[in-house]
Amino acid sequence: MTSTHPLYDVLHGRRDVRGQFTGEPLDDDVLHRVLSAAHAAPSVGLSQPWDFVLVRDAGTRRAFHDHVRTERDVFAATLTGDERQRFSRIKVDGVLESTLSVVVTYDADRGGPSVLGRHAIADAGLYSACLAIQNLWLAATAEGLGVGWVSFYREPFVRDLLGIPETVRPVAWLCLGPVTHLEDVPDLERHGWRVRRPLADAVHSERWPTASA
Ligand SMILES: Cc1cc2nc3c(=O)[nH]c(=O)nc-3n(C[C@H](O)[C@H](O)[C@H](O)COP(=O)(O)O)c2cc1C
Repeated sequence: MTSTHPLYDVLHGRRDVRGQFTGEPLDDDVLHRVLSAAHAAPSVGLSQPWDFVLVRDAGTRRAFHDHVRTERDVFAATLTGDERQRFSRIKVDGVLESTLSVVVTYDADRGGPSVLGRHAIADAGLYSACLAIQNLWLAATAEGLGVGWVSFYREPFVRDLLGIPETVRPVAWLCLGPVTHLEDVPDLERHGWRVRRPLADAVHSERWPTASA
């Protein structure tokens, strides 16, 4: 894809990584740059509702990985036939193979109670945390690193595991670290799970399209 600025190469080159982590050490300066990028994200009312819990401990990651395996089985049990077969070949995390995990949390009380811009849309706080995640993901890609978002977990489990307060939500468990390479095509597409939707199908003029449009 042609682009006019290197940022576009990063945007289009970004991948969700599960199978390409090398587990090599990560330079502290690089990690700091990536976290600084995340922390530079926009946020509703400048609430900056995110925190980043860095998890390197092998025991903690093993415990989380066991939980992910259980949740994977829960999801697999909802599938039948061909879909179930296809899912069985898909890796959903690189928790043990990646260099470290970064758990991104959302604190709805940060900057409260009068968060400017959140009075009508409570989710605007959560959106802000997701923007921090996307900044982290793109910065890591620009550094030649891989990121894998793992959502096969129950929030209370992660809260207990990491001592996160009841009022704070663990939004994402991110696997981070050096990789052998980034694939050109998303894993789910490579495994025939889903294909990417053309941009033209997602862009609408003036109003939501009618059934006949
Ligand atoms: C909110 C969110 C949760 C996700 N959870 C998982 C997950 O649990 N396991 C996984 O392998 N990928 C997960 N992904 C990655 C998506 O499968 C991936 O982004 C999508 O297939 C497109 O691939 P790409 O990121 O390489 O472009 C998640 C992505 C998002 C945004």
